[in-house]
Amino acid sequence: CKWLYHALALFVQMRPTLSCQIYCTGDLLKQVQLARLFSDDKHFVDMPLRESPELVLKKFQDLVNVTPGGMLSKVQLGQFVNSSFSDPGQEFEQWEPQDWTNSPQILAKISDQKLQAWASDLNTKWKSLGRKIKDDIRIRPMFYSQIYVPHPLMVPGGRFIEYYYWDSYWVIKGLLLSEMAATAKGMIQNFLYLVERYGHIPNGGRVYYLRRSQPPLLTMMMDAYLAHANDTEFLRENIHLLEAEYEFWQKNRSVSITIGGRSHALNHYSVQVGEPRPESYSKDWELAAGLNEDTRQELWAELKSAAESGWDFSSRWFLSWPPPLPATLKDTKASAVVPVDLNAFLCKTEHLLALFHRLLGNASKAAEFQAALERRLEAVQAVFWNEAAGVWLDYNLLKKQQNQAFYPSNLAPLWTDCFSDLAAAERAVQYLEGSTVMSYKNGLPTSLARTGQQWDLPNAWPPLQHMVIAGLAKSNSSRAKEVAFSLAQNWVRTNFALYEKYQAMFEKYNVDGDGKPGTGGEYQVQEGFGWTNGVILQLLDLYGNRLTSGSPSFSSWAWIAAACIISLV
Ligand SMILES: *[C@@H]1O[C@H](CO)[C@@H](O)[C@H](O)[C@H]1NC(C)=O
Ligand SMILES: *[C@@H]1O[C@H](CO)[C@@H](O)[C@H](O)[C@H]1NC(C)=O
Ligand SMILES: *[C@@H]1O[C@H](CO)[C@@H](O)[C@H](O)[C@H]1NC(C)=O
Ligand SMILES: *[C@@H]1O[C@H](CO)[C@@H](O)[C@H](O)[C@H]1NC(C)=O
Ligand SMILES: *[C@@H]1O[C@H](CO)[C@@H](O)[C@H](O)[C@H]1NC(C)=O
Repeated sequence: CKWLYHALALFVQMRPTLSCQIYCTGDLLKQVQLARLFSDDKHFVDMPLRESPELVLKKFQDLVNVTPGGMLSKVQLGQFVNSSFSDPGQEFEQWEPQDWTNSPQILAKISDQKLQAWASDLNTKWKSLGRKIKDDIRIRPMFYSQIYVPHPLMVPGGRFIEYYYWDSYWVIKGLLLSEMAATAKGMIQNFLYLVERYGHIPNGGRVYYLRRSQPPLLTMMMDAYLAHANDTEFLRENIHLLEAEYEFWQKNRSVSITIGGRSHALNHYSVQVGEPRPESYSKDWELAAGLNEDTRQELWAELKSAAESGWDFSSRWFLSWPPPLPATLKDTKASAVVPVDLNAFLCKTEHLLALFHRLLGNASKAAEFQAALERRLEAVQAVFWNEAAGVWLDYNLLKKQQNQAFYPSNLAPLWTDCFSDLAAAERAVQYLEGSTVMSYKNGLPTSLARTGQQWDLPNAWPPLQHMVIAGLAKSNSSRAKEVAFSLAQNWVRTNFALYEKYQAMFEKYNVDGDGKPGTGGEYQVQEGFGWTNGVILQLLDLYGNRLTSGSPSFSSWAWIAAACIISLV
């Protein structure tokens, strides 16, 4: 009986890998995606199966076998997809969070009436972003690309009809401010479930995302939840899974850098899977046109590594950068970059794991993570710190040098307390003010390079604004605090102005002109939007009594001018 049970369990676990033969790799995926049946490649890989994967694969093989050359026509593929797959977007049911409240305390902290009404709208948006995975995904996982998780969750919105890893950090912070601790806890439980099952957290909730992760923020999610709910038991039950996720990054994503005769261990994004991304298959295929087999496999692995960083895509990962060398997406070499932000996140993870173990009474484990933290601090200082620039800079393993370009991620160590120099925040302010980035009044741009990629100028992204603002705000420097506030004010005004104009919150914003929804990259800008709402709620929490919804409009300036003239006359 026990034997049967184990065989059955193993069988059930094997089944989702079978669906991966359809959604992640193989001839069926290739033929369908290269036929471009749908305008967005993500459409196909999100379609559930009408029949078992064995049967679908067999039917496809039978068709291939009777077709000279084995390549089906677009019409044949269309008919095949119609008969074997159903429409995407069916794995979730709408779900209204039980812990939602219409008057969380944060609202009372906001002085500006318009901002207060807006925050109330954002609080209400959680109801439309809430989803619960249907039970059929648990019972018949092999019919879906969606990966089952047990608890309800928030999706980002728009095109993204599954959960994402790093987005969820800002969503969870927002949920906690909306006093929805049970929903936040459920989302953390989902990620812990994924670590238990796969040993790491996939980029997003689809089997085709399984081979890559995203910026590791799980332990920071736990910390945010614990700061809100004193749930030590939850921590005790799950600390081994937080450690397991950390171990994944240490085992699978480590690099060694030797500087001045000393070796330092740090981490990078690296996905050594030399195939097109299933959800952007035809684009990756096209990009690699004309390359030989080795080079194109390498390019595809690098695109996936860049996707793992969350910054897909950006000049930050281009090898032949900065100009005058010509650089395009084809120059992506993300695994050669040792990123400041990734190491800042892991630094915080080590710090928190030491703290958590101390809290739970395991002194030896606490000491182990404390030692890891100290090694990290030393490595961050030695590899990333640039004394002349007064900031941390990404390190390139191939060029054996730092990348001098501006990215908001250069300031990430301030946010995660990964430094020991007390003057670091002051230096960071000088760094910002010494560059042109402060002249953009609609938000900090992602870089100063206009490449058409979405993680570059002119786009500005909510999580990057938050990291920089929160990092400066918590310092002891009054100058840094002032800059943090003015960045927050800029960001809030832009988001609010566009909310008034479109009644929508966007995934990213364009800092040009008066501010616009973001542009560029691989798809249309998406509306919703989980992390955007989470960041605004956090800024309103931080500065609710000071932020205002808009600068005085032209007409009010005209009134003031008229009043002055009249009084002078
Ligand atoms: C597939 O089904 C859709 C909707 O039912 C239909 O519009 C389309 O023409 C079908 N395509 C093929 C190739 O059969
Ligand atoms: C991590 O490394 C192990 C051992 O090399 C490998 O089996 C596994 O596929 C890797 N996982 C990921 C997601 O890269
Ligand atoms: C948190 O819970 C622990 C017991 O689980 C208790 O000892 C501690 O005092 C609580 N702390 C707060 C701030 O409530
Ligand atoms: C601390 O953790 C280690 C490793 O899990 C374990 O072997 C040890 O017994 C724990 N010590 C305490 C005091 O709980
Ligand atoms: C700020 O000052 C306080 C008290 O002087 C100190 O404990 C804290 O470590 C300082 N924080 C930073 C980031 O410098």
